[in-house]
Amino acid sequence: MASTQSDQGARVLVASNRGPVSYEVQENGSLSAKRGGGGLVSGLSAIGSDADSLWVCSALSDGDREAVRRGIVGAGPEAPPQRGGGGRREGEQGVRMLDIPADVHADAYNGIANSALWFVHHMLYQTPLEPVFDAEFRRQWASYETYNRAFAEALAEEAGQGAAVVVQDYHLTLVPGMLRELRPDLRIGHFSHTPWAPPEYFRMLPDDIAEQVLRGMLGADRLGFLTRRWASAFEACAAQLVGGLGDTRIGVHGLGADADFLRKRSHEADVDERLAALRAEVGEGRRTIVRVDRTELSKNIVRGLLAYRQLLDDHPEWRERVVHVAFAYPSRQDLAVYREYTAEVQRVAEEINSVYGTPGWTPVVLHVKDDFARSLAAYRLADVALVNPIRDGMNLVAKEVPVVSDEGCVLVLSREAGAYEELGEDAIVVNPYDVVGTAAALHEALTLPVEERAARTKRLAAAATALPPAQWFLDQLHALDADQPS
Ligand code: G6P
Repeated sequence: MASTQSDQGARVLVASNRGPVSYEVQENGSLSAKRGGGGLVSGLSAIGSDADSLWVCSALSDGDREAVRRGIVGAGPEAPPQRGGGGRREGEQGVRMLDIPADVHADAYNGIANSALWFVHHMLYQTPLEPVFDAEFRRQWASYETYNRAFAEALAEEAGQGAAVVVQDYHLTLVPGMLRELRPDLRIGHFSHTPWAPPEYFRMLPDDIAEQVLRGMLGADRLGFLTRRWASAFEACAAQLVGGLGDTRIGVHGLGADADFLRKRSHEADVDERLAALRAEVGEGRRTIVRVDRTELSKNIVRGLLAYRQLLDDHPEWRERVVHVAFAYPSRQDLAVYREYTAEVQRVAEEINSVYGTPGWTPVVLHVKDDFARSLAAYRLADVALVNPIRDGMNLVAKEVPVVSDEGCVLVLSREAGAYEELGEDAIVVNPYDVVGTAAALHEALTLPVEERAARTKRLAAAATALPPAQWFLDQLHALDADQPS
């Protein structure tokens, strides 16, 4: 379909469900823009001039849809599309939002991506009741295809001749194959931010769907994963289901923490204020076990609380002397199972406080309102950081805490987090299901000699920042270039 091609289109394109900016309609009708954080956003800042780069994402809120309608982030009715992304140049540079019909998006995002693919990749289904791939799943799958096609078509329209396109994550697995058909001239990469399940688990998906996912991704020149473990699992799935990788190359890029940004941001006035407030909440002279998570089922927050309770039982000497500071920020609240999990976290925290608490000591300080400055304050305060996911693509909290920590912090880390591959040697490693073992690890962490704790934190910080976001992104682009026949 050479007719969609443009010589003036973008040179580097990123595609992801959630974009780098979101909009809100203000009372006076104006739109306010909020820039997101995260590795991908800072990584992209490395590619330079916005005029040559474009981020294609979904409109996720009413404000986003209004921004599309007004032609700020793509072509709305008032700004008819032009070749090479003309519709976006008037407003937000370098972003095009796709206003995908709400029901199609809900099926693709809540139904397929977050209720099926997320569970498969994290190996989170609980048999015997789940999963059930029924007619409703098939109906949602058709929406997932429609949603992926909308991205492929927008990218085909926006990309300049021979441009590099990097597609992100499990929401968009079909895009590389679809885009390859529309624009064979493009260099296409796909990056998975999640784990990848080995074939015996991945093959829970119906065969035809599993094959579509793999073939869709294998439409890319190059597939990126966060760790060797996830890359190998993908290779094994491809070998079993579709006869191997074909011409597609695999790369491992372990996204690291952004040291410069974090060190500067964590000493700004709002973080200092929150640190003072947290210190007051914890109480003078007490040790802290800190965790910061989005409340995703994979994060294992409830078992973390149970391990803390076990610590108080096994080592009563810690009562009154330690506080578990747990930040559990709500995520994906459209899904009942996430809402129930959020409620369970709150219930267990309250129970611990009512059973063990004393007039002067609240054993668990739980906060659920997302506040990045307060998260950084908690990192600075932490004596121990608990990162115990059942499974995680990487887990950036494990990498951020040692960078920000004021006085050194012991990392208790699940062996199922991608970060374990890089940080395992200097962390205290746990099996995330083993509550008694995790309690013992917390005790060990709290009693580690100060010098040992400082030395470990230093080594952890070095390992955690080995591949900063900008370099992580550039490495992928260079690898895409290198894969081209000259
Ligand atoms: C986690 C995963 C990413 C994923 C993101 C989507 O952070 O590690 O792989 O892209 O969730 O989050 P959202 O809030 O957009 O569903």
